[in-house]
Amino acid sequence: MSNTEQYAVIGHPIEHSKSPVIHRLFAEQTGESISYEAIDVPPDELNTAITRFIALGGRGLNVTVPHKQNVLELMDSLSERAELAGAVNTIIREEDGELRGDNTDGVGLIADLRDNIRLELEDMEILVLGAGGAARGILPMLAELRPDELVVANRTLERALKIADDLADIGRIKGRAYEELETKSFDLVINATSAGLAGNVPPFPASIIGPNTVCYDLSYSMRDTPFVAWAKEHSCKTTYQGWGMLIEQAAESFLLWRGIRPTTAGVRDRLPN
Ligand code: ATR
Repeated sequence: MSNTEQYAVIGHPIEHSKSPVIHRLFAEQTGESISYEAIDVPPDELNTAITRFIALGGRGLNVTVPHKQNVLELMDSLSERAELAGAVNTIIREEDGELRGDNTDGVGLIADLRDNIRLELEDMEILVLGAGGAARGILPMLAELRPDELVVANRTLERALKIADDLADIGRIKGRAYEELETKSFDLVINATSAGLAGNVPPFPASIIGPNTVCYDLSYSMRDTPFVAWAKEHSCKTTYQGWGMLIEQAAESFLLWRGIRPTTAGVRDRLPN
């Protein structure tokens, strides 16, 4: 009998997911015997798809758009960071068959910013643009670091204020509308809006970018994302897309499932276009 253990990513759509390639590279590197596939799961089949995968022996799942929030209520237990983020991107089937929901997005972003890009986050003034699910996934971890300043700005101010309030026990976050940002530049600007998916850049004030501003888009694409193009036009210091976060969050999921954190260096170069 094969000892290969089964994992998968569920999302809708899912055909462009890089997770199967990333996890297969991790398995090759660590010698872990796993399979990893991508499964297209429409929203109304979420529960049955998870139940079926687990019943057939599946050991863990990654969860992506649009299921990260809806999966919460299907879990037997949640990690603190999944609870704070209000979203699950990693499901672990425990020995007793219970399903545990965790979230490695925030820790993946921090790993990329710190270990790969080598930013001293604690000493920075950080601006997060957007207050939806993606922002909520990363803000608890950023707040925990107690940076010099942490601001979340959003088109709908109430959502920014709500996140800041929800996470007040972790660290101070200031909620702002875009037009309230017009006074200064930040050390690090992170785009967590989904506007780029439609090819748009919201009306961010140009003043948020200075010559020393590092700009990071949680989205990723083979070319410049709209936000990255905008940041370059405004002469920021450097730009990054979310490739590093994608790979680091995958490494953290692999660690949760297999007890080994794969090396992430060089993985980006081996991803197909
Ligand atoms: P996600 O899970 O990708 O974060 P979401 O929860 O729907 O998706 O949140 C989308 C985010 O992108 C929100 O911050 C949204 O702003 P609002 O809260 O004001 O809706 C932001 N967003 C999306 N399209 C936008 C646009 N064209 N202009 C400004 N903000 C936009």
